[in-house]
Amino acid sequence: MKRIGVLTSGGDAPGMNAALRAVVRTGLSMDMEVYGISHGFEGLIDGEIEKMQWSSVGDILQRGGTILYSARSKRFLEEKYQDKAVSILKAFGIEGLVIIGGNGSFTGGLALANKGIPVMGVPGTIDNDLGYTDYTIGFDTAVNTVLDLISKIRDTSTSHDRATVIEVMGRHCGDIALHAGLGGGADFILIPEIPADIDKLCTEVLRGKHAGKRHSLILKAEGVDIKTDDLVRTLEDFTGLETRAVVPGYIQRGGSPTERDRMLASLMGAKAVRLLYNDAASRAVGITAGEIIAIDLEEALQMERPFNQEMYDLVVMLS
Ligand code: F6P
Repeated sequence: MKRIGVLTSGGDAPGMNAALRAVVRTGLSMDMEVYGISHGFEGLIDGEIEKMQWSSVGDILQRGGTILYSARSKRFLEEKYQDKAVSILKAFGIEGLVIIGGNGSFTGGLALANKGIPVMGVPGTIDNDLGYTDYTIGFDTAVNTVLDLISKIRDTSTSHDRATVIEVMGRHCGDIALHAGLGGGADFILIPEIPADIDKLCTEVLRGKHAGKRHSLILKAEGVDIKTDDLVRTLEDFTGLETRAVVPGYIQRGGSPTERDRMLASLMGAKAVRLLYNDAASRAVGITAGEIIAIDLEEALQMERPFNQEMYDLVVMLS
């Protein structure tokens, strides 16, 4: 393969730029031409495509966001726009595509793969919700952002004898809450993988209060089927403890990537290009048990994320 394209799509994630840098520079060092497509599938449909140079990706390794911009494309769900994307890729002579994004982006990639364009998926999402890979690019940075937040909230929460519910992102996956809960010593975590027992939660918070605990920190994943405001009211009514809600939202998607995200992004981006260079099969690149792997794109999308019950039990036991 001599000419490839790269795009970032879906919710941005810290480390997307590092992956992009690895894709462009690996491609150039193998004498390939690399084209950057702006605004994900939206930009692909509209032909927002530019040739990338070595210097196009200078000084971006440490930057959050994506210099190629991102989008969630409704149009790309329609076959006529997928066909348009294929003809645009052909008009540019682009033979293969690297897609840096999450579930929805890989699904879009699969549509192109089924139309004869080889696609490499590089997992870029803070959610860590892809079943075939242990980690996605951006997850580690998001967890560290939440850890920083937890320690700040703990200070003020303790001073005021309050309970605080922190709602974290993750869509249908509880991994941000689970990992930040363990690393940050949350008193309780609520995640979509485990049915929420609100009565038990309230009883435990009250028991803590009676035992002299000065604050309670509850991490709730956004995918849990109870509104954060309702939970705050229920907790306050039941325990009599002043309770606050904190929803950091998009703060979790920004910031300079951690070393782990930069490393993952660089290794995965380079692997995706080497695979495209050597063979035309569509794959998803990931990491399992410390090894960078690549598996069939469609298969990757079908794999369910295994739930780490042991880690969940440990959070509960240590709290
Ligand atoms: O997939 C990343 C993510 O931040 C999710 O955690 C969240 O549910 C969603 O994107 C928010 O999407 P949007 O940027 O479209 O509001």
